[in-house]
Amino acid sequence: MATTSAPLTTAAHTRHAQPAPTGTRLGELWDVLPEESGSTPEGTLTLGGVSVTALAEEYGTPLHIVDETGLRRQIRRFIDGLRERWPNSEVLYASKSLPAVGMYRVAQEEGLSVDIAGGGELQLALAAGVDPARLYFHGNAKTEAELRMALDAGVGTIIVDNEDELDRLERVITRPQRLLLRVIPGVEAETHASQATGGNDSKFGLPMDQAGHAIDRMRAHPLMEFEGVHLHIGSQILNTRQFAQAVENISSVGTFATYDVGGGLGVKYTYDEQAPKVEDYLDSIVQAARAHLPAEAKIMIEPGRAIVARAGVTLYRVVSVKRTGKVFVAVDGGLADQMDIALTDQRYEAIIADRLTEPWTEEAQLVGRQCESGDLLVDRAAFPPARVGDLVVMPTTGAYAYTMSNNYNGALKPAIVFVKDGAARLVTRRETYADLLATHEPAITAPSGQ
Ligand SMILES: Cc1ncc(COP(=O)(O)O)c(C=O)c1O
Repeated sequence: MATTSAPLTTAAHTRHAQPAPTGTRLGELWDVLPEESGSTPEGTLTLGGVSVTALAEEYGTPLHIVDETGLRRQIRRFIDGLRERWPNSEVLYASKSLPAVGMYRVAQEEGLSVDIAGGGELQLALAAGVDPARLYFHGNAKTEAELRMALDAGVGTIIVDNEDELDRLERVITRPQRLLLRVIPGVEAETHASQATGGNDSKFGLPMDQAGHAIDRMRAHPLMEFEGVHLHIGSQILNTRQFAQAVENISSVGTFATYDVGGGLGVKYTYDEQAPKVEDYLDSIVQAARAHLPAEAKIMIEPGRAIVARAGVTLYRVVSVKRTGKVFVAVDGGLADQMDIALTDQRYEAIIADRLTEPWTEEAQLVGRQCESGDLLVDRAAFPPARVGDLVVMPTTGAYAYTMSNNYNGALKPAIVFVKDGAARLVTRRETYADLLATHEPAITAPSGQ
């Protein structure tokens, strides 16, 4: 496996103009694959001009691959789109969705501010060189040590979740600090229960009728610069009216300089699904803001999933194929690197990426290698009859896959490569067995010497 980045050019490949060839699996999955997808004459998927075969050989599998050109384009859709509609605005990258140092760098280069939740994401952002003034520190249970770390680092804004946090902040604050208050807007988001965060029973933020007391405390403190309110109704939300409803509800809390209306825009995961365009989402928020918020207020949004999901795919290799009652196609990863499936029942697509031209005549259970029957990556994937060694791509796995990857069954966290203009660069290396052993005491050296 390579440890350095290397140019990997796939000389002959076609970047299909949309729509992609009809009657092919590639055509069916075109708008859940990264924007810069294409194919070689032999029928292998290319991403950013690099064939997945070359990527598998150079970096191994499982592998997260990110189309950097499509990613940057999507970031600009958010920044430019919001600025055109509401000039006094700011777009934050919700970095929990893909917390890789290389991704924080792209966010910073493209002009995004960054949402961090916890000391770990703070460290990653600082390591990437993100301007601390453009960091927004979230979390419903920030510790005193984390608050001190944020103050020492010069984090621009802390989003206060509750009054216990204010107690801690009062103990550690030594300089003026900008603050927002997270408020529950009373919107039950139409999404999986584990992703809904804006309903009245949410563990995040304070109910609107308790916000006033916390705001008074911040306003009374000489070092606390209270700027406004924050809300976040949840994730993978496909009904844009819900964002507008949240804006309307929050307006009743009061008149402030800033309203951060959170993230949550959903994306299209399967070919039969529809998701709103970024433009429609922005229209919905801004129309509600025009109707309910002060004209001079600053509006902020915090997309994560909708920035990185489509740009990223996961590449696997088929390890075994069983044709019993069903067809089981098992790959060299699974639940350990796609936790979202188990947490949220998210449905995904999959494609045999080095046999694009072959008809998809078999219905397969794409399964992983973890010891759970629930380790089912795709239920009834449409494949040509799969063979050991085939390369499988799971599209739309740029968000919340790498970040939730874990060491279940001793799995190693996959590497991340960014592809662009026919070249690939390693952004996060694959974990090694030495990494796996490193935290155990007394110190252990991996027997394989890795
Ligand atoms: C406070 C906050 N903002 C933004 C986000 C990003 O959400 P999404 O990735 O759905 O856009 C999250 C994720 O849950 C969040 O908790």
